[in-house]
Amino acid sequence: MKYIKIFAPATVANVSCGFDSMGFAVDTMGDEMTFTKTSTKGVKITQITGAKGLSLDPTKNAAGVVALAMLTKHNIDFGIEITMHKGFSPGSGLGSSAASSAGAAFGINELLNKPFTNLELTKFSMLGEKAACGTPIADNVAAAVYGGFVLIRSYEPLDIIKLPVPDELQLVAIHPQIEVKTKDAREVLPEKVPLKSAVTQWANVGGLVSGLYTNNYQLISNSLTDVIVEPARKHLIPHFDLVKSEAIKAGALGAGISGSGPTIFALCKGEETSKNVQSAIQNSYADKKIDFTLFSSKINTQGVRILESK
Ligand code: HSE
Repeated sequence: MKYIKIFAPATVANVSCGFDSMGFAVDTMGDEMTFTKTSTKGVKITQITGAKGLSLDPTKNAAGVVALAMLTKHNIDFGIEITMHKGFSPGSGLGSSAASSAGAAFGINELLNKPFTNLELTKFSMLGEKAACGTPIADNVAAAVYGGFVLIRSYEPLDIIKLPVPDELQLVAIHPQIEVKTKDAREVLPEKVPLKSAVTQWANVGGLVSGLYTNNYQLISNSLTDVIVEPARKHLIPHFDLVKSEAIKAGALGAGISGSGPTIFALCKGEETSKNVQSAIQNSYADKKIDFTLFSSKINTQGVRILESK
């Protein structure tokens, strides 16, 4: 294989209760990337479209950092040229750097004849996350690599569990057109957490995982609660409480901050509810004088996928 074009999905990290430890992949939104073998060694990013302000310098670009690390580890005698079309903006809370990182890890692994496992691809992708936001977070990248829902059971050693996706689960998300940098959104987090809150949080993570395994939508709904991170971050997102309450009133199983925001996600059972939730969210933001995009999607169960190869 000399050339590959891939789709790298957007992702929703945290999923309310699972800060830094849960995430899922989005079916209808993501980046397209191409990787071409070249005779000149090294990594070259030749084009980035769809978003502004991203560096073409591979040492400063999440995808470039991942590519350089993989080529160094594999010690190959060719180079790689990368192009990227961003399908959504950086700073949206939908895992933009994670899509670039996981897309690069996946695409290059294919060009190398797949020497690396998904766990190793996630580790490489985490280097891209570190370059983008200062912390090697795994929740977005693992969701993009594995697809579906993931649980980061442990960071050291890295242990990722792919969780099942109930068939009727749908995402509705609103992206207010403001930017929240993950680095800034991590700075507002509490350093210490009361034991009572920690108990609530880990009990809900258990509930959510159990609900996913048993297709128990009511249990999923009961567990989509975040008493630690959401209260600390929601002031960064205009009208968060209103959107959340309107989504739930319209039938959403739950709603919360997607990753570090500003996107707000809602999970719904079935298409009809998803449409109702979409209208409710749209109405709640219509007069707020903040531009926004709104979309709904199934959960992507496959992760990064090949669009074309030669
Ligand atoms: N879990 C991370 C956070 C995701 O919430 O900071 C950031 O993309």
